[in-house]
Amino acid sequence: MAIFLLLLLLLVSAVSGDEDAYIGVNIGTDLSDMPTPTEVVALLKAQRIRHVRLYDADQAMLLALAKTGIQVTVSVPNDQLLGIGQSNATAANWVARNIVAHVPATNITAIAVGSEVLTALPNAAPILVSALKFIHSALVASNLDDQIKVSTPHSSSIILDSFPPSQAFFNRSWDPVMVPLLKFLQSTGSYLMLNVYPYYDYMQSNGKIPLDYALFRPLPPNKEAVDANTLLHYTNVFDAVVDAAYFAMSYLNFTNIPIVVTESGWPSKGDSSEPDAIVDNANTYNSNLIKHVLNNTGTPKHPGIAVSTYIYELYNEDLRPGSDSEKNWGLFDANGIPVYTLHLTGADTVFANDTTNKTFCIAKQGADPKMLQAALDWACGPGKVDCSPLLLGHPCYEPDNVASHSTYAFNAYYQRMAKSPGTCDFKGVATITTSDPSHGSCIFPGSSGKNGTLINDTSLAPSSNDTSSVHPPRSYGTGSFTTSVMIGVLLTGAVFL
Ligand SMILES: *[C@@H]1O[C@H](CO)[C@@H](O)[C@H](O)[C@H]1NC(C)=O
Ligand SMILES: *[C@@H]1O[C@H](CO)[C@@H](O)[C@H](O)[C@H]1NC(C)=O
Ligand SMILES: *[C@@H]1O[C@H](CO)[C@@H](O)[C@H](O)[C@H]1NC(C)=O
Ligand SMILES: *[C@@H]1O[C@H](CO)[C@@H](O)[C@H](O)[C@H]1NC(C)=O
Ligand SMILES: *[C@@H]1O[C@H](CO)[C@@H](O)[C@H](O)[C@H]1NC(C)=O
Ligand SMILES: *[C@@H]1O[C@H](CO)[C@@H](O)[C@H](O)[C@H]1NC(C)=O
Ligand SMILES: *[C@@H]1O[C@H](CO)[C@@H](O)[C@H](O)[C@H]1NC(C)=O
Ligand SMILES: *[C@@H]1O[C@H](CO)[C@@H](O)[C@H](O)[C@H]1NC(C)=O
Ligand SMILES: *[C@@H]1O[C@H](CO)[C@@H](O)[C@H](O)[C@H]1NC(C)=O
Ligand SMILES: *[C@@H]1O[C@H](CO)[C@@H](O)[C@H](O)[C@H]1NC(C)=O
Repeated sequence: MAIFLLLLLLLVSAVSGDEDAYIGVNIGTDLSDMPTPTEVVALLKAQRIRHVRLYDADQAMLLALAKTGIQVTVSVPNDQLLGIGQSNATAANWVARNIVAHVPATNITAIAVGSEVLTALPNAAPILVSALKFIHSALVASNLDDQIKVSTPHSSSIILDSFPPSQAFFNRSWDPVMVPLLKFLQSTGSYLMLNVYPYYDYMQSNGKIPLDYALFRPLPPNKEAVDANTLLHYTNVFDAVVDAAYFAMSYLNFTNIPIVVTESGWPSKGDSSEPDAIVDNANTYNSNLIKHVLNNTGTPKHPGIAVSTYIYELYNEDLRPGSDSEKNWGLFDANGIPVYTLHLTGADTVFANDTTNKTFCIAKQGADPKMLQAALDWACGPGKVDCSPLLLGHPCYEPDNVASHSTYAFNAYYQRMAKSPGTCDFKGVATITTSDPSHGSCIFPGSSGKNGTLINDTSLAPSSNDTSSVHPPRSYGTGSFTTSVMIGVLLTGAVFL
């Protein structure tokens, strides 16, 4: 027994790194209304997301992530892989443009070279390891190889016979790739990137995998899966797949390569053939996954060893082809509104639960100032927003510009209308955000500590110093405003139509 424990300890320390596991989030961009990089970063900050993976190395996104402290995994998209795997110079060029140009301001910590190449782009498999090596040698040349790890995300479907985990092995067809790949990961101190989707395992199991087992829900002891070879008990599919990967690596004699799960999640909506793609299951899976990972539980084979995990994904991607579920893996919609509120009591280091359901209406970045002014005039006039905080000497006067003032007014209106649909539009110059725009003593309606602004006609009386809300209300079409608002406007008789 003592020897067994010693062996276990040795094994554990072999894979180790005493780092805590973290939760990251994948940022797919196939949205018809993709938020700007600034908006994306605002959402990440509000939700305290400290690790992200991009599917490319988008310059604007990397710039927006600069000086945020957020750790970034960038990707070489599959369509650039052949070029990079065939030419050291192309790889060096890619690194110069997409990495060297951004560090250290942007904290790039890993490069994912390709995505599920063996299964998605098998004809690039022969050059995959070269691509990793070329990228790595360019990092070495820039002295960045210590801080930036190079790896390539795999589909877990390359692992065969994955239950019991102790019998798992990588599809032998890929040994000519996997062996040099694992050598590379080992010699560079990198990790195996693995995509783990219990949702698909469950869907494809024809009822053999209980839903509770896929969702990390407690199972009665007699239903727990036991690996007859190791006697290890498995209480969830996620752990079993990660352990299958550890065993598949050790089958090839690699026992000290850590695993980072580059994608995992559950869709919140699907078509009629996907009855388990529902909000409840998505919430249960992701909430339990986050708690499981952050608890540093590890897996039965390597208890306590961090298995950091990137949730798939930040936004619902409405433009993704395929079934309905493909478009509904996100935690947030394009406006940054949560699709569901995660159950994270006791795990609140990520996903600030106090702001998950708080939304504000702000002026769109780069909106035409004339349009903003017109909308501001409407809000402070017919819209009956109390714009007095915008007056000179009042808390929201500074910064004195139309974007800032209209943000205040748009939000006050939106909060007063109980955030009902269409009340944050203002002819397209307004947008919803989850980050509280309050600053200094300027507390926005809807922010903690203050309620929505009440209608207060008297405050609309212009003061001689007022530069922002004195303009007479101008005609400002009915656009997306609600009928009740229009009636209100007509009753005041203040609108010049
Ligand atoms: C980047 O992240 C690494 C890993 O946590 C950290 O050690 C380092 O200080 C960060 N660098 C910057 C510039 O924030
Ligand atoms: C590739 O280029 C790097 C410089 O970017 C150089 O250090 C390395 O030796 C080259 N490797 C090969 C295999 O040509
Ligand atoms: C193993 O990989 C080969 C090559 O992609 C594929 O043709 C084969 O179907 C795979 N085997 C299994 C059992 O998935
Ligand atoms: C793993 O190591 C064992 C013992 O050294 C050896 O017999 C076996 O051939 C090795 N397997 C592989 C795939 O290298
Ligand atoms: C957290 O870890 C402890 C032991 O380290 C374990 O008893 C507990 O069940 C874990 N909780 C979750 C939610 O995994
Ligand atoms: C999240 O909710 C839990 C319980 O409701 C609470 O203890 C914790 O402080 C909250 N976290 C934040 C950041 O508000
Ligand atoms: C979020 O807010 C909306 C309305 O503002 C409300 O209907 C909903 O119940 C809230 N959700 C949560 C989880 O608090
Ligand atoms: C918000 O308004 C409601 C009713 O008007 C009041 O009961 C509540 O205390 C207010 N909350 C804050 C934070 O002022
Ligand atoms: C309107 O605002 C003024 C000045 O801020 C205040 O004195 C008055 O009580 C308010 N009226 C209502 C109905 O809230
Ligand atoms: C106008 O601004 C001046 C200087 O800031 C101030 O002394 C004065 O009281 C203001 N007048 C009104 C009506 O707000």
